[in-house]
Amino acid sequence: MLGCRLCGGLVDELLDLGRQPLANSFPRPDQTTDEFFYRLAMGACRDCSMMQLLEEVPRDLKYHDGYPYRASGSATHRDHFTSVATNFLARELSTKDAFVVEIGCNDGVMLARIAKAGVRHLGVEPAGGVAELAAAKGIDVLREFFEEETAVRIRSTHGPADVIFAANTICHIPYADSLMRGVAALLKPGGIFVFEEPYLGTVINGMAFDQLYDEHFYFFTVRSVQSMARRFGFELIDAEPTPLHGGSMRYTLALPGQRARTANVRSLLAQEEELTKPDTYRRFRSAVERIRHDLVGLLEQLKQDGRTVVGYGAPGKVTTVTNYCGIGPDLVPYVCDSTPSKQHRLVPGTHIPVRPPDAFRDPYPDYALLFAWNHADEIIAKEQAFLEAGGSWILYVPEVRVVRHVPAGR
Ligand code: SAM
Ligand code: TMP
Ligand code: ZN
Repeated sequence: MLGCRLCGGLVDELLDLGRQPLANSFPRPDQTTDEFFYRLAMGACRDCSMMQLLEEVPRDLKYHDGYPYRASGSATHRDHFTSVATNFLARELSTKDAFVVEIGCNDGVMLARIAKAGVRHLGVEPAGGVAELAAAKGIDVLREFFEEETAVRIRSTHGPADVIFAANTICHIPYADSLMRGVAALLKPGGIFVFEEPYLGTVINGMAFDQLYDEHFYFFTVRSVQSMARRFGFELIDAEPTPLHGGSMRYTLALPGQRARTANVRSLLAQEEELTKPDTYRRFRSAVERIRHDLVGLLEQLKQDGRTVVGYGAPGKVTTVTNYCGIGPDLVPYVCDSTPSKQHRLVPGTHIPVRPPDAFRDPYPDYALLFAWNHADEIIAKEQAFLEAGGSWILYVPEVRVVRHVPAGR
């Protein structure tokens, strides 16, 4: 049994998805021989309840100049982060000289709005490619990993922050002790630390096992974040569900006594009791095995029937699901994705080619396997002509199912 990365307590293993490559390390066709593999398994700490991966991948292997994730890659994300920024501007950053820091600003999807408003800000982003995209939008970016030493330096050059924000980044940081000491050093006494991250409840209740990959080191609950906050001298004053990535949670931390606590925390804690019971984890494990069985069975049947299948979207999730299920180019000959840095490369491990979106229409396949299922509404609406041409979508969480066009009037 392993020790918890946060508190040293005993961690019980709950799910093992086998040996996996790095989810966002899409190799070129000539780079397939030296892929990095690790064991993708997660477990919960008996003491602080934090759900975490059992093996940690070194951060430099993940977040480097070629890191392909683009936060601005969908209209849903652009709209969401613009409204996050607008809310901060109205509620937290209206004083003269206000200062906001974003940890993991990526291509600047949130800070662009802040920079436009002329408010002091700093994005901390170690991945050079996306940091350059942010800088090109007029955003001040520090190309480094945020940790205690970085935070102390930022404070001494810029002063304390009114708001520290992060999205889909805090769960990427195994060294939570250095991160939290950094936040404590940088935040103004009356300031807030806000982060929105994938939620364990969504993963478990939605059978979203493909949210597990090397970058998502922790899966937070309100309970585990509350425990983490206290450990580092903070109070969890609010928790609020947000819609991205199929259902995330936004946590707000402040120094004790500085801000009023909302009623949300208590009601979400009560809802979480069922979530962490052994029976819940057993059901999750068998549902994941069932998805593998049904999805592979469906793809093999379609192949036998001479039907064509193409993958739609190559998010990090595609790596987990195709490697866990053993789905390669024999079952899904290619995947279409709008991210230029993923195109003409291969899905890690299973080596399914990634092509630009045009390849989807040239010609339409009979079936499209939707790996970017969290963008289902946006994508299915955008690709209405595919359904009208007789195509069908395959979705695989929370269970495998086929969505066909029902002509109006039937
Ligand atoms: N915030 C964006 C969003 O929600 O779409 C980007 C999320 S992306 C999945 C995670 C980002 O965190 C990457 O751009 C990565 O380089 C960055 N990151 C990872 N570790 C970090 C650290 N210690 N400090 C700052 N950024 C980090
Ligand atoms: P995400 O769920 O992590 O944001 O990743 C979504 C992936 O799907 C990303 O690689 C971009 C891709 N995508 C498309 O190819 N077409 C689309 O219309 C959308 C919304 C996303
Ligand atoms: Zn622990």
